[in-house]
Amino acid sequence: MHMVQLSLCKELRARTKTAHNEIESHPYMVQLFRGRLPRAAWVCHLRDLVPVYEALDQALAASPRASTILSPALRGRAAHIVEDLAILGEDRGCPSDAARAYCERLDEVRKDPARLLGHAYTRHLGDLAGGQVIARTLARCFGDSVRDALSFHDFSPHGSPRALSTQWRAEAERISWTTEEIDRACDEARRAFSLNTSLLTTSLSSALVA
Ligand code: HEM
Repeated sequence: MHMVQLSLCKELRARTKTAHNEIESHPYMVQLFRGRLPRAAWVCHLRDLVPVYEALDQALAASPRASTILSPALRGRAAHIVEDLAILGEDRGCPSDAARAYCERLDEVRKDPARLLGHAYTRHLGDLAGGQVIARTLARCFGDSVRDALSFHDFSPHGSPRALSTQWRAEAERISWTTEEIDRACDEARRAFSLNTSLLTTSLSSALVA
């Protein structure tokens, strides 16, 4: 019998393409790129990302299979966000319902390395790719005074973002994944995009009432 070996990373990219296109044109991103994102929306989003990264780190650390792909550059990201918030004069606040739902989902899938990988993919490769464009745009939107508050986006102590993504993909491909696991990873990555969409929507509505 002829077995077709799917590439996990190619499948992840192909099967989240629509979700990625959609999140790129989310009103949060549109307002950011127009230089019109309310500061309160950015702060709310940073606050929500703190528990999300804590939950992601925790779930990955407890999963021997999924944690092998986690380079030091991608661990402990919540601490950077807390530092950035402090520079902005903000505390870590209280997570929104959307952030709580995201953390609950991470907890639900903690025993499934394929699903955890889908989450790690969405956040980590997103930070290493589009996150770099977003950092430059934040500096344009809020002025030079926020440059020191962008440590979350800064991977320079660990090498270039491109090299880190290449390494992530190589590590992820080194593990052998069954077709069913690849399906679950892609399914969960799409779910992670949707959870991220909710975070963005929540941060815009919180800015309206702020
Ligand atoms: C307007 C905002 C965004 C822009 C401009 C953007 C841009 C990009 C670009 C240019 C790449 C390709 C990089 C490369 O091929 O090396 C990329 C990849 C990626 N982005 Fe975004 N992105 C945005 C938002 C997001 C968000 C909010 C997420 C998830 C939370 C995300 C997740 C990803 C992922 C997972 C990849 C890796 C795709 C792959 O190669 O498999 N992006 N993004």
